[in-house]
This record gives sequence, structure tokens and C-alpha cells, in this order.
Amino acid sequence: MARRRLIAANWKMNLTAPEGTSLTEALFSVAEIRRDVDVVLCPSFPSLHAVGALLRNSLVQLGAQDVFWGEKGAFTGQVSAAMLTDAGCTHCIVGHSERRGRFGASSLAPELLPYFADTDGTVGLKLRRLLFANIHPILCVGETLEEREAGRTEDVVRLQLEGALSGVDAAETFGLAVAYEPVWAIGTGSVCDAGEANRVCGFIRSRLAERLSPEAADQIRVLYGGSVNSKNAAPLFRESDIDGALVGAGSLKAAEFGRIVLAA
Ligand code: 13P
Repeated sequence: MARRRLIAANWKMNLTAPEGTSLTEALFSVAEIRRDVDVVLCPSFPSLHAVGALLRNSLVQLGAQDVFWGEKGAFTGQVSAAMLTDAGCTHCIVGHSERRGRFGASSLAPELLPYFADTDGTVGLKLRRLLFANIHPILCVGETLEEREAGRTEDVVRLQLEGALSGVDAAETFGLAVAYEPVWAIGTGSVCDAGEANRVCGFIRSRLAERLSPEAADQIRVLYGGSVNSKNAAPLFRESDIDGALVGAGSLKAAEFGRIVLAA
């Protein structure tokens, strides 16, 4: 099945609202050229409304970087799915390694890492909340360098998928995307070799087929993320099981992100 390409920009904790809106305006022309590609911008929470207002009636879609699983109430500092919908979000990243306290490159002291406390269990709760709210989740999975060197890549990815998808039916997964983001490749400049990224993305698809259904696995887009830039994007996009990218640093400059979208 030919799956539509999806290129998502994870701005992380970068760009104020004015900076985000000027970057967004600069991307409209490339989205116009590549109408065959889904482009999703994921700003920080305070910029969602400003960027969302610009994107209304445009070809580019809006995503958030996280969500809380509760509906509403006394959860200081959390953001609900209804708030994301209100801002215009159609997508939301969930289970990013940085929210799980697993960093590819980090200047944080090890004792501070547990602050970023997502687990496979909380990721599952968040994912179900997003599906319930009709927001398309971009579920992130991926192994650390230590796990890869111990030959545990498949085990780690399998457990992350099972945790996130527990209690989810195939019929609910329309619009789900999974991003394979090896932690060691994030923010390090060490992109995963295209063939190896494709192998793990293929493994993810085979797990989705077993866990959900072959039909669901065939339509779910599997993305690669980790040091994607305009130079390494094309070989990744030529691989059969890579349906697009989740881009961090490479999405912060219009020209660079534009070239990545054009390569899709
Ligand atoms: P970089 O592209 O900066 O390596 O980040 C990837 C990422 O974490 C996207 O979610």
C-alpha cells in the first residue's frame, strides 16, 4: 500500500510565538509544492494558538509535543486533549524519549533525569486519551546506545509498543503514526544508517501487524527520527518501511526543513 508521507517538525523547547509564526509563514510555499506530503508542526504549548491561527485553512497541520491523560481537573501544569483540540491540533507526539528521561545528548545531571518520568504505562494512557479525542498520536519508540550495544533494540522497541498500545483496538488506530527514534541518534549528529533504520521500522510494522492487524499495520505510518537533515533525508526516504520523518534541530530553519520536505 502506498502510504502518504508525513514529515513532522518537533520544535522541542525552541522558538517563541513570534519566531514560530515567522518560520511557519516561510514554510507555506514548500507545502504548496508538496501537496502530496503531510507536514505537521509541533510547537511548544504557549505557541500553539498563535501558530494554529496561522495554519487554519492551510495545507500544514498542527501538533503538540505532549498531553496529559486526564480529562480535566486539579493537575497543575498539565495540558488536556480538549485544550489541544481547541488550539487546532490534529496531531500530538507521545512517548518522546526526552519525556521518558532518556536523552541522546544531555547536559542534565543524572539525578535530575527522573523529572522526565513518562513510562510505557503513562504513554499508553496518553495515547488512549489522544485516540479518544480524535487527535492523531505520533508515538515515539527507540533504544539507547547501551541497549543497542547489548543487542536489545528489538526487545526495547517491542516492549514500548506493547505498553503504548495496551487496550487499543486496530479499529481505533486510524491516523496513528509511530516514530522510530533511536535515542543515541537524537541531537547527536549520528544519524542511523538508512538500511538499519529501515530494518527496525520494518520490525515495528511486523509487531503492529501481530498486535493490531495486517491491514492496520499497512496503513500506519512509521517515521524515522534522529539527526535528520537535508543531506541525509533522501536515502532514508528511499527505504520501503520509512514513511517520513520526525525532525528536531533540522526543523528550526525554514530553508533546511523545506529541503527535507522536498526530499520526501
Ligand atoms: P534531532 O533531529 O534534533 O536529532 O531530534 C530528533 C527528535 O527527537 C525529534 O523528535
